Amino acid sequence: MNLKSKIPVSLKYFLKAIPTFSYDFYRFYKYSGLNSTKKESSLVALIIHDYHVIEKGLTMPETQLGFGKAKMFILISSCKDYIKRFGYNHEQVKHAVKVILEYKNLHDKLGFKLDEELINELQSLKNIANETSPSVQISITKSDYFSHTSSSFLEFSNSRKSVRNYSEKNLSIDKIINAVALARNTPSACNRQPSKVYVYTNKDKIKEILDVQGGNRGFGHLTNKLIVIAADQSVFFGINERYQTYVDGGMFAMNLLYALHHEKILGCILNCSHTDKKDKQMREVCPINKSEVYIAMIACGEAPEQFKIAQSYRNSLEKYVKVF
Ligand SMILES: Cc1cc2nc3c(=O)[nH]c(=O)nc-3n(C[C@H](O)[C@H](O)[C@H](O)COP(=O)(O)O)c2cc1C
Repeated sequence: MNLKSKIPVSLKYFLKAIPTFSYDFYRFYKYSGLNSTKKESSLVALIIHDYHVIEKGLTMPETQLGFGKAKMFILISSCKDYIKRFGYNHEQVKHAVKVILEYKNLHDKLGFKLDEELINELQSLKNIANETSPSVQISITKSDYFSHTSSSFLEFSNSRKSVRNYSEKNLSIDKIINAVALARNTPSACNRQPSKVYVYTNKDKIKEILDVQGGNRGFGHLTNKLIVIAADQSVFFGINERYQTYVDGGMFAMNLLYALHHEKILGCILNCSHTDKKDKQMREVCPINKSEVYIAMIACGEAPEQFKIAQSYRNSLEKYVKVF
């Protein structure tokens, strides 16, 4: 009998996992934006991330004037840094400047005096980025928003957005169940279907979970039902499948978003990319099986008669696709 056959299977997998996870760790450490925004792509991502915070603020059910002051300073500084290093050509940087101008316009229009230092920063950005037209966030009626829920896929897909405003009307659980039934059409690796859905209906519980989630300021309190999407790791066998839970779960989440839209439910998908500490905290307030991981949450509710939606400007097609 050779030595290899004496090693228990669990130890074999453990020993195999170490170099594979180390490889992933190394790649993430080296290539992600973790350490700095020196890379152009990381700086652009930071700019998008920060202007998205501002456009979300501009579309909140009740916009708090003067909101996001600290974020505006950082955003303006990042835009200036980008322009100095790479010029003023990137579509996302141009869009960031438009969002900054929209922020200024809104405050001017409503007679809210912005911080003097912020106005100076804004002016100095305007001097180097000769952008004049502000962005305009979307304002839409309920009937217009849902006018394509049974149209061609082209119109249907173009009409779905993350909406962060819900009416007080009770959202029927049956509609959510219908959406989950439809989302089961999602493909999964070897049809193992790891996705699981937990629906929370109690306002206090929803608040408790959303407080831990943390990315729902200004609209989380309006959530009528909270959908938690998890996926089960126990259906995957090899080290090669270590991220399959997230791939399959992510695909399911997207299908569920479409299915909710089809059911005329407003929703906003919420981040569950946690550190170990936050994951443990979340498992306390929002229990899922031990073998399951969080994929995302979806805050949802019935639509008010009129609401605003963040633009979330998309990159041009050339940035998405290369044909060889
Ligand atoms: C995985 C994931 C996590 C997200 N987390 C949040 C979040 O925590 N809070 C939030 O307001 N929006 C969140 N969003 C929504 C994005 O901001 C939104 O999808 C993006 O801006 C594109 O806009 P659209 O959904 O309207 O097309 C998340 C989206 C995804 C895909």
